[in-house]
Amino acid sequence: MGVPFLGEALAFLKDPFTFTLTRTRKHGNVWKTRILGDTTVFFAGPKAFSFFMNPENFTRQAGSPKFLQEILHHDAVPFLDGDRHRTRKRLLLSAFTEEALATYVPNIVRIFERFVTRWADGKERAVGDELSQLGFDIADMLFAGSSPEASNAEVAADFATMIKGTFAPPVNMPFTAYGKAIKARDRLRMYLKGSVAKNDGKGSALGVLKAARGPGGEQLSTTELEVELLHFYFAAHGGLTAAIAWLLVVLGEHPDIAAKLRSEADAKLPDGVPALAQIRGLPQARAVSREVLRAYPIAPTTFIGVAKRDLEIDGYGIRAGWKGAGAIWATLQDGTTFKDPTAFRDDRLGDDAVKALPEGAFVPQGGGPPEGHRCPGEALIQVVMPLFLGWFTRRFDLAWPAQDTTPAGAGLGPLPKDGVRVMITPRAT
Ligand code: HEM
Repeated sequence: MGVPFLGEALAFLKDPFTFTLTRTRKHGNVWKTRILGDTTVFFAGPKAFSFFMNPENFTRQAGSPKFLQEILHHDAVPFLDGDRHRTRKRLLLSAFTEEALATYVPNIVRIFERFVTRWADGKERAVGDELSQLGFDIADMLFAGSSPEASNAEVAADFATMIKGTFAPPVNMPFTAYGKAIKARDRLRMYLKGSVAKNDGKGSALGVLKAARGPGGEQLSTTELEVELLHFYFAAHGGLTAAIAWLLVVLGEHPDIAAKLRSEADAKLPDGVPALAQIRGLPQARAVSREVLRAYPIAPTTFIGVAKRDLEIDGYGIRAGWKGAGAIWATLQDGTTFKDPTAFRDDRLGDDAVKALPEGAFVPQGGGPPEGHRCPGEALIQVVMPLFLGWFTRRFDLAWPAQDTTPAGAGLGPLPKDGVRVMITPRAT
């Protein structure tokens, strides 16, 4: 349980991936600790993870730490439950339909082109920081309706300040990381208020969400839209950036896999911008993308919930009011579900293999039904990652200098230690 009140919060915040994995290896799939005064139970493995995701057992209402609710907004979808959550989530899911996703592809490809073409001069460079800008530009295009032709460095800098302070000790003073994060968040809110008011959002999620209507005519109010869009940046940026970074690591460290992906893309993709159906026609790229989300640490846990009543699982008692969370990383590294879990296998998570997995096994973006607290961005990521693999291998050759690719840094989506060192040239053959 750690020290009084704080418990093991510092170890958890310092490196939530190692913390939850080592505790699961030590205690098994259901174990408890204390985080900032709250007894908190972690659930790892398919059975325990699904137990936590069952809305009969845990509610997300008042689950997450106050400092996180304060930064994002206490009325944002991860902190809601019941009817309010269902209505809000249904409207947000309209931004991730096949129809909506198809409209985002041209702008996403334009952003890939803008960055990778500039890197493709054969010079050795670390692209980690620029990948973070690339991830931000995709989020900015999708959620503020900004142009894919240019980077908004000023707003990206505010966003980086907000992210940095989110997982810092929650002391709101002008000179603390958390205090600076709150100020940056306020500037981002003004930026989003302006974007929502003036941008029609054509070809972006902003446009789709503005037009979204529920079966009873429900729609997102301007305030709800601004609140959710800010959360979307937060939810999307770290994952997007990390996902593309690890795709480059796989292409660099496994030239055999890169060759397979290139021949698949040559067979299935056009020279220009691919249609969504053509991206769906890349099963190998899909399997590699899934294995990247399983094998590399991006999201350590779900958001935190509260036990709705006294519960029991595998003989363990959980008291009503205790906090709980799904241990995502520990579940993805579960050796019972995934043989030799630390090995990267490009054919491990093909379509049939994924279908054969138990509920609650492959949960990089949470689990359960879409209208629950499962990540709505899953559908977008399942397009962006195979698209990047097909698009990149068709156009560029990648040489991979020796480097340390150990995941480094706290929070969401730690990046490879040496910053993703690449030597990219336009495709020779
Ligand atoms: C690789 C990229 C991503 C990863 C690994 C990821 C992971 C997650 C995880 C673990 C959760 C928590 C699930 C829970 O608490 O049960 C979540 C929730 C969420 N994510 Fe993502 N995410 C990613 C990308 C995105 C993107 C691109 C968007 C938006 C466009 C997004 C929007 C959200 C939202 C709105 C929620 C809250 C859902 C709710 O509580 O109902 N995520 N994500």
